[in-house]
Amino acid sequence: MILSIVNQKGGTGKTTTTINLASALSQLGKKVLVVDMDSQGNLGYCVGLDEGNTISDVLEGKIEIIDTIQSREGIDIVPSDMRLVDIELSLIEEKERHAFLKNALNEISSKYDFTLIDCPPSLSILAVNALYASDRVIIPMMLEVLSLQGLDQITQTIQKINESYNKVIEIEGILPVMVDKRRKLTEEVKDYIGENYDITIFNSMIRNNVKASEAPSFGQSVISYAPNSNSAKDYMAFANELLSRN
Ligand SMILES: Nc1ncnc2c1ncn2[C@@H]1O[C@H](COP(=O)(O)OP(=O)(O)O)[C@@H](O)[C@H]1O
Ligand SMILES: [Mg+2]
Repeated sequence: MILSIVNQKGGTGKTTTTINLASALSQLGKKVLVVDMDSQGNLGYCVGLDEGNTISDVLEGKIEIIDTIQSREGIDIVPSDMRLVDIELSLIEEKERHAFLKNALNEISSKYDFTLIDCPPSLSILAVNALYASDRVIIPMMLEVLSLQGLDQITQTIQKINESYNKVIEIEGILPVMVDKRRKLTEEVKDYIGENYDITIFNSMIRNNVKASEAPSFGQSVISYAPNSNSAKDYMAFANELLSRN
């Protein structure tokens, strides 16, 4: 299954969720591929990837995606780099501009139980490529009033892709992240989504926890950096919930 981790806002825990969900699924015996589609390349930094071939080279048609893979913590990872910004501009000229990532993944995604795509903080053509390549999406979201606006944009973008290209990309669910249980607002936003959208909110929540933000400096997922932390437990619980849903 190919899953995009999407939210056009920056700093909503996409990269953190991608790497830690990947690590948790891998611990549970699943074969996982991770693709970084953000030009900032945060994901590669988070797990200490070396310089090398990236998704940019693949989208330019220079190499196959398999020749970019670096393995960390049992996960296969396709890194990105700054050149994705230029590639985004050149893709816009192409007729099949939405399908480049899907075509690149065709060769290899069947070898994995899960392919997770870390999306850029936009709904640009790079994000459209990620969505078009995906069966489902996970939306990591802080449960704040301001996050709600963004939810409409995501659902509309997915609907548009489904209609334009005859796809059935489904929203697997919203993952509440950086949750502070003491804040009452969280429950109110949750209720609002429940009443106004036909979208699942996962039972699992990722609590605000300093270990999640420390782990990248050690080039590790939080599952391996601090296995007993709330973050590691939360992401393991989320991986289990995801598996039990499928
Ligand atoms: N559960 C959490 N608790 C504390 N800090 C977190 C948590 N999840 C993410 N962060 C921090 O929040 C910031 C944004 O997260 P990130 O995953 O990079 O978001 P995005 O990829 O959506 O831009 C990072 O500094 C990250 O370390
Ligand atoms: Mg990110």
